[in-house]
Order: sequence, then structure tokens, then C-alpha cells
Amino acid sequence: MGHVQITPSILNADFAALGAEVARIGSADWVHVDVMDNHFVPNLTFGPTMVEALARSTSTPLDAHLMIADVDRHAPAYVEAGCGSVTFHVEAASAPVRLAREIRAQGARASMALRPATPVEPYEDLLPELDMLLLMTVEPGFGGQKFLDLVLPKIRRARALVEKHGLETWLQVDGGVSLETIERCAAAGADVFVAGSAVYSADDPDAMVAALRERAES
Ligand code: DX5
Ligand code: ZN
Repeated sequence: MGHVQITPSILNADFAALGAEVARIGSADWVHVDVMDNHFVPNLTFGPTMVEALARSTSTPLDAHLMIADVDRHAPAYVEAGCGSVTFHVEAASAPVRLAREIRAQGARASMALRPATPVEPYEDLLPELDMLLLMTVEPGFGGQKFLDLVLPKIRRARALVEKHGLETWLQVDGGVSLETIERCAAAGADVFVAGSAVYSADDPDAMVAALRERAES
């Protein structure tokens, strides 16, 4: 398994002060940027222009999570905007292999996300094309939702597939990850952890990043 990485989501940060909000999580490995389009999910956040400004404002790499329709067409703009990792939802992609190769060819890490009810087994043969697999532990769209324990067996099965093929694919979890739930995710085989409300509702977000990391490593 890879080493533990904490990727706080800015979805619950103050959007009027994003540069300052990102500066509050200096020990984060990546900044998780949730891009929503009111079509794939019933919520709207920001696009490539905003993401590019954010990328310029911090030395922490950006981990874009694209919850958008027609993602084959729109994903490359997020690599151009400066994201080091770009995640598309398989449910929104028409040619996931081509898209993953395109993201890699542009120089970013390619990642694919599965909603809670999307099984991992049909995508076993795709894993070598991916630098990371994101297993959603809530239905995408909003921060602050309750962690779905029903995804834990899928995390275990995904970890087994990664090991079976001798891959180094990172396994990310996103949704309801907190001090209470992170150990379960780590025990199931996740190594990259998104946390939104847990980090930004804490008095000291960077101390929460450290606490989550310690809990995941224990
Ligand atoms: C949900 C987003 C998540 C969200 C996580 O659709 O993809 O990244 O911000 O927020 P919490 O940690 O509050 O569930
Ligand atoms: Zn996300």
C-alpha cells in the first residue's frame, strides 16, 4: 500500500477567500477541488479559470474532482489550468481509456471515480491506465453528508485488484471522512483521504489534517 496522503476538500471553505483558506492547510499533500456543473450533480461550484487562479496561489498541488457531464470534452482544461491530478467519473465519461491516456499525455495523474453504487469489477482491466481510483463514500454533490459504510467492501475488493495486478494505483476515498471514519477506510485499503467538513469546521484545519493523518497511519 502507498503512504497515507490527506487531500482536504475546499468545498466547505470560504469561497470568497480561497487563497487564504488553502494557506490554512499547509501540511496537506494535495488540495482537493470539487468541480460541479449542475448536471452530473445538483450543485454548481467553479470552472477552469477559477482553478487556474487557485493553482497560481499555492505550491500545494491540486487534485481536481470533476463531477461534470461531457467530461471527455472538459477534463483537459483542468490539466491546462495547472492541476497535478484530474479525476473524472466513469459514469460521465464516454471513452474512459482514451480520456485517462489524454490526461497522462498532458502531464497530469489520471484518476477515475466511482459513485457508491458503481461496481469496481467491470473496470479491473482499466486499472493500469489509472494513477488513482476514487471510491465515493457518499453520493457526490454536497459536503457534510454521512459516510456510507456499504462502500467498505468495495474498497477491500479494489485493494485486492490493485495488489493482484502488482499496481501502484492510489485508492482515494471521498465523503464523510472524519476522525471517526478514517480508520475504517484505511483498514479496508484506502491510502488517499479527502476530508471537507472535518477539516474546515475545525478551529485549526492544519491540526485536523495532522490528526487525520495520524489516525489513518495507526
Ligand atoms: C462531495 C465532494 C467531496 C466533499 C467532501 O461530492 O466530492 O469532496 O467535499 O466533503 P465531506 O468531507 O464534508 O463529506
Ligand atoms: Zn470530491
